[in-house]
Amino acid sequence: MKFFIDTANLAQIQEAHDLGILDGVTTNPSLMAKEGIKGEEAIMKHYVTICDMVKGDVSAEVISTDFDGIIEEGKKLAALHPRIVVKVPMIKDGVKAIKWFTENKIKTNCTLVFSAGQAILAAKAGATYVSPFIGRIDDSAWDGVDLIAQIANIYSLQSFKTEILAASIRSALHIVKCAEAGADVCTCPLDSILGLLKHPLTDIGLAKFLEDAKKTR
Ligand code: E4P
Repeated sequence: MKFFIDTANLAQIQEAHDLGILDGVTTNPSLMAKEGIKGEEAIMKHYVTICDMVKGDVSAEVISTDFDGIIEEGKKLAALHPRIVVKVPMIKDGVKAIKWFTENKIKTNCTLVFSAGQAILAAKAGATYVSPFIGRIDDSAWDGVDLIAQIANIYSLQSFKTEILAASIRSALHIVKCAEAGADVCTCPLDSILGLLKHPLTDIGLAKFLEDAKKTR
């Protein structure tokens, strides 16, 4: 399973990159706004900066909702860097646009996916990635991880090539559960990635080893 970091914060991207386990980055308009990035030029520049920091795919989201607007915006984003993936919402014109991008060899990430039916449409249109929103599903008392498992089963039975990118991750446990359910990629906040490190027995064991090591020096 690949690890993407779900942020537009450069310090956090660098920290995850330095850990040596980072395969890519996802952003969305809310994450860009959180970093105070304003204006088209600044936004475009920020995407290029992120691409220069990491080796893998970087998702950049369109804000148009009509076919022509999505295509125009997506072409501009894709021209910024060869590793930009155009992130397109799961709406009717979004599906049409994903098909167009697929035919024109531009990678896409179909976002705001909350059902298996939507995931089938994204795969039929040829999306590179499909992003089911695990945490937001859990927030509404459904099970986000169950959706990952259902999509993984369908994609395997139907030999769809689209990669399942588990998004809206809220915890280290989500990451483990998504790995078990067959996600190809998890896009996670830095805290959830670092949460994977934690185990009290590791801390207790290390303290004891270091204490005993003093006896041997
Ligand atoms: C990433 O691709 C998604 O936009 C993101 O994971 C959504 O996360 P949230 O539900 O925490 O806003």
